[in-house]
Amino acid sequence: MTDFADRLIAWQKHYGRHDLPWQNTTDPYAIWVSEIMLQQTQVAAVIGYYSKFMRRFPTVAALADATQDEVLQHWSGLGYYSRARNLHHAAQTIMGEYGGVFPQDFETIQTLSGIGRSTAAAIASFAFNQVQTILDGNVKRVLTRYFAIEGWPGTPKIEKALWVLAEGLLPETDMVAYTQGLMDLGATLCSRSKPQCLSCPLVETCQAYKQQRVAQLPTPKPRKITPVKYTTMLILQQGDCIMLEKRPPSGIWGGLWSFPELQNDDDYAKIAQQRFGMTVHPKKALPELSHAFTHFKLFITPQLLEVIKRDSKTCEPGSIWLSIEDAMGAAIPTPVRKILQSLRSKNT
Ligand code: ADE
Repeated sequence: MTDFADRLIAWQKHYGRHDLPWQNTTDPYAIWVSEIMLQQTQVAAVIGYYSKFMRRFPTVAALADATQDEVLQHWSGLGYYSRARNLHHAAQTIMGEYGGVFPQDFETIQTLSGIGRSTAAAIASFAFNQVQTILDGNVKRVLTRYFAIEGWPGTPKIEKALWVLAEGLLPETDMVAYTQGLMDLGATLCSRSKPQCLSCPLVETCQAYKQQRVAQLPTPKPRKITPVKYTTMLILQQGDCIMLEKRPPSGIWGGLWSFPELQNDDDYAKIAQQRFGMTVHPKKALPELSHAFTHFKLFITPQLLEVIKRDSKTCEPGSIWLSIEDAMGAAIPTPVRKILQSLRSKNT
């Protein structure tokens, strides 16, 4: 047992988190779902989604049997929707290729859609007590400080070095407490901006602490200007109903229901006529909104249009009319939900 692991495990047992909804189980399915939801998403945001998801899809079989639309509906608002599409796809692989049993072999786990090395290690250690190391963003921060490693941890060279160092710290047993301890330490004491070094079980051997470089490490990502994009969403409204389109299966919000979009300088009355066979009447603009993606920021102008006449023959395939209430329950991205909320409060 390394000294690092020893102290981390003892600390986790005493001070770590023990009652999260995905803990105290060895069901690989329940653990897998949690690990996917927790990628790029904080625990507090995940908890409510997780319980609802597990109630609706309690087993791999239930998830594999569902439609993609229903899976996305239960993911609506969590973002990074390729996670949900991959989860669904992997559930079907487990049913089709592994007889419905989650594979235990570490390499095989990594062949499933959406499961990389760190996620596979989290599942393997929590579900099967395998000795495998995780290396997510929080753990990278802990290790770059512990070993005082210079350079942004996202670069392949540094990342490779971190994997090797992380493997060298592994204990022989107690993998559940060890893995959870790494996560807990990274999420609590070893936070980015307010590290609490004096309460840390690793402070005596932490190189960044020793060199007084905790605040400088990890080295931040080199800054790039975030590109900005603009779009207009057409809110076609007739009575209490609005029209949504299903987005293409991959890309931003892939497979989700959203408002039709056009370039800001397009003539929306003409487009409504040509594309949808509708005569429309522009209504007062709704408030603009913005949405941050990993690689760009999107500014959205919602254009509310009252539909005066609808030519049923020109109705596009892949579009639906829903009441605002029903649309709120569909697989929609967050900005669409916000627009629906402002429409609803406008109507009441
Ligand atoms: N982040 C990723 N996996 C986690 C887990 N199992 N518990 C808490 N936070 C996590």
